[in-house]
Amino acid sequence: MPSTKKILFLPGDGIGPEVMAQVRRVMDWLVASGRASFEVEDGLVGGSAYDAHGTPLHDDTMKLALAADAVLLGAVGGPKWDNLDFSLKPERGLLRLRKDMELFANLRPALVFDALAEASSLKTELVAGLDILIVRELTGGVYFGQPRGISDLPNGERRGVNTQVYDTHEIVRVARVAFDLAGKRDKRLCSVEKANVMESGLLWREEVTKIGTTEFPDIALSHMYADNCAMQLVRQPKQFDVIVTDNLFGDLLSDCAAMLTGSLGMLPSASLGEADANGARKAMYEPVHGSAPDIAGQNKANPLATILSFSMMLRYSFDMGVEADLIDQAVRDVLADGIRTGDIMQPGKTLVGTSGMGDALLAKL
Ligand code: NAI
Ligand code: MG
Repeated sequence: MPSTKKILFLPGDGIGPEVMAQVRRVMDWLVASGRASFEVEDGLVGGSAYDAHGTPLHDDTMKLALAADAVLLGAVGGPKWDNLDFSLKPERGLLRLRKDMELFANLRPALVFDALAEASSLKTELVAGLDILIVRELTGGVYFGQPRGISDLPNGERRGVNTQVYDTHEIVRVARVAFDLAGKRDKRLCSVEKANVMESGLLWREEVTKIGTTEFPDIALSHMYADNCAMQLVRQPKQFDVIVTDNLFGDLLSDCAAMLTGSLGMLPSASLGEADANGARKAMYEPVHGSAPDIAGQNKANPLATILSFSMMLRYSFDMGVEADLIDQAVRDVLADGIRTGDIMQPGKTLVGTSGMGDALLAKL
């Protein structure tokens, strides 16, 4: 019998509960077929948590998140909560989860399903079969470095300051995550910075190189300047497997890479923290998209981004690569059959709703 994984389910707001319900069906199938054993807790986050408890994330839910083997989140937010005080906004729930779980590595895959390759803004042959993973440092760098702020200068001008700061341990821990993931994939890692003009980038390059040589000699490590990486991502994206980069460059490069795939409803993500003594990491998985209030409650949302986020959980938190492959393949097969939700609809294909997409996926599994 496989060991029982404790998963915290946080459906959130808008389409969150609808897409998460389809993940439950996939989990039930894994359990029924004897491939996995799950203990699922349900919790509230975002606007729904505010409505119930007056806070976007209750302390008890935070405790459940810290005790879980992994967290799966739908989406938060919506017009109903837009005018709340900043500290009560649905997004604060998400931010607290990321902060209190110390999720410093953000994983954003850019995965192109052949059946959708023509939806990309690039030529089909450039993106068909694309499968890259960007690992972005999430809790350091220029968005957090001191000093920061806007000040008045004696000459009457004003000065805006943000500081890029990275200490060794911040570089080393995200590099380890990236090397680790590369080991579960194609064993290639490209580290991206601007060591030519930034000292923080130079330190980044030196530290990543050290970790590679001493701890991960079997992973092929390369280095690239961030501006060149941006060009290469739209010129020849398939040259990459795993990319590791800092918070700022990762923000831009992951959005750029994600859009090679063409659809928000297909994009999963993960955020990972420090490994414990057994090598297990705190982890939260969630689709890249938001709560889509314009289609919420209408059975129109594409559940695949969330289902693919769950498949990442199996692969990266539970070492269940075989089961993750089964799910990814079922997604590929359903798309190849022409089954489409509205967001990825193409002429001549079959339009289904959220649960219809779930039905089609379960039939493949
Ligand atoms: P959004 O991602 O919710 O929606 C953008 C557009 O994409 C909409 O037209 C929506 O219908 C469509 N879309 C998104 N996901 C889809 C799916 N799975 N299937 C089919 N169509 C889909 O972003 P938007 O409209 O900027 O924000 C709406 C709310 O979501 C806001 O309250 C925002 O703060 C929140 N939000 C939450 C995020 C999260 O929970 N991580 C991320 C982004 C936004
Ligand atoms: Mg961004």
